[in-house]
Amino acid sequence: MNVVLGVGGGIAAYKAAELARALAQRGASVQVVMTAAAQEFVKPLTFAALTGKKVITGMFSSATGDETLSSAVEHIGVAEANSLLVVAPATANLLAKFAHGIADDFLTTLYLAFTGRVLLAPAMNTHMWQHPATVANLEILRMRGHAVVEPEEGPLACGMIGPGRLADPETIAEAAMRLLNQRKDLEGETVLVTAGPTQEPLDPVRYISNRSSGKMGYALAEAAAARGANVVLVSGPTHLARPNGVKLVKVTTAVEMHDAVIENLDPATIIIKAAAVADYHLARIPDQKVKKTAARLSLDLDPTPDILAEVGRRKGDRLLVGFAAETERLVEESRRKLKSKNCDMVVGNLVSQDGVGFDSDTNEVVLVMSTGEMVELPRASKREIADQILDEIIKLRLALHSAQ
Ligand code: PMT
Repeated sequence: MNVVLGVGGGIAAYKAAELARALAQRGASVQVVMTAAAQEFVKPLTFAALTGKKVITGMFSSATGDETLSSAVEHIGVAEANSLLVVAPATANLLAKFAHGIADDFLTTLYLAFTGRVLLAPAMNTHMWQHPATVANLEILRMRGHAVVEPEEGPLACGMIGPGRLADPETIAEAAMRLLNQRKDLEGETVLVTAGPTQEPLDPVRYISNRSSGKMGYALAEAAAARGANVVLVSGPTHLARPNGVKLVKVTTAVEMHDAVIENLDPATIIIKAAAVADYHLARIPDQKVKKTAARLSLDLDPTPDILAEVGRRKGDRLLVGFAAETERLVEESRRKLKSKNCDMVVGNLVSQDGVGFDSDTNEVVLVMSTGEMVELPRASKREIADQILDEIIKLRLALHSAQ
């Protein structure tokens, strides 16, 4: 496992040393490349000691010691010898250069010559992170299929509190390992995922919704795309970025989600319904804002279309996975939904527990299958749970096919 670690010039460069160690501890052979600015924050010797390799510090300062011909083409050699390029901290400047193909030092030149997977771990001041230029550059890089470990929120070196702090080196190392060990076992599949809440208008300024953040569905879409599937993600309103390599269809209401799912149903081979769809809506929405009075106000709500049940009726030989968000009798309720909606699998989560279900970064689920089998997945990040659900989907499909 040969990894290039590109270190950009930001205060978080010192955390890249921990990342180099975390990667080496996981068995990776790490070649560090530092920009000139990075060397103002940390000495190359630190990385050399941690990786056991000479650090590349510039276009004409070779890691091999030969400062003539070999250093002139060294970026090509390094590009060919490594399967993953991790850039941490990825500064706003580096993101801009990568996005626009500017190659004016070793790291940016290596980036252009590199054909393997790229993992970016940005870190910068909150305003720089939120600047439209940075947002647009990152979008270009995501569209190119690069993986991104988003910065965390917290106190920054500049004194601000907000998003921009480099993600934990262990988190970045885990993401790097996932890319290195990536299975491509969903190639040829088209996976349709729903995520997030729906918003049901009550008047032009008010709506009914729920606490779904979209994290579970987005994690599933990201994991499926990383495993080679074509992924269509139908999402209610969330604050999440489009996962790499995924077609995103944005919707607001349950009716819009229904229409988007039905429109994208034909080519789908696997459908995963992680969205928290409103069960009721106001059938006739007033044109004007409802005025406040002293009188009690009742809402007369109608059921929304049950998308899962409709897909269950039309699914043919597609594999259908529903979710069940329950506060009691998790297994019984999940089994009831499995049968009543004609699903092949229901992912049950007991959302009354902390760290499970709505808006948490972790989940803990039970999978009930049409074969009668049941699998419990203990607490883990939603991204890890997503991969485990996909593992079980692949096994279930094999079991269903061999039973035919
Ligand atoms: O988004 P996060 O913050 O990460 O939270 C994740 C989650 C808790 C939303 C997710 O893990 C989850 O449990 N999603 C399903 C939530 C839900 O609405 O469950 P339900 O038991 O009410 O619905 C059962 C199934 O029917 C779901 O697959 C749902 O998408 C589907 N449904 C529900 C109503 C409706 N009108 N149409 C549907 O298709």
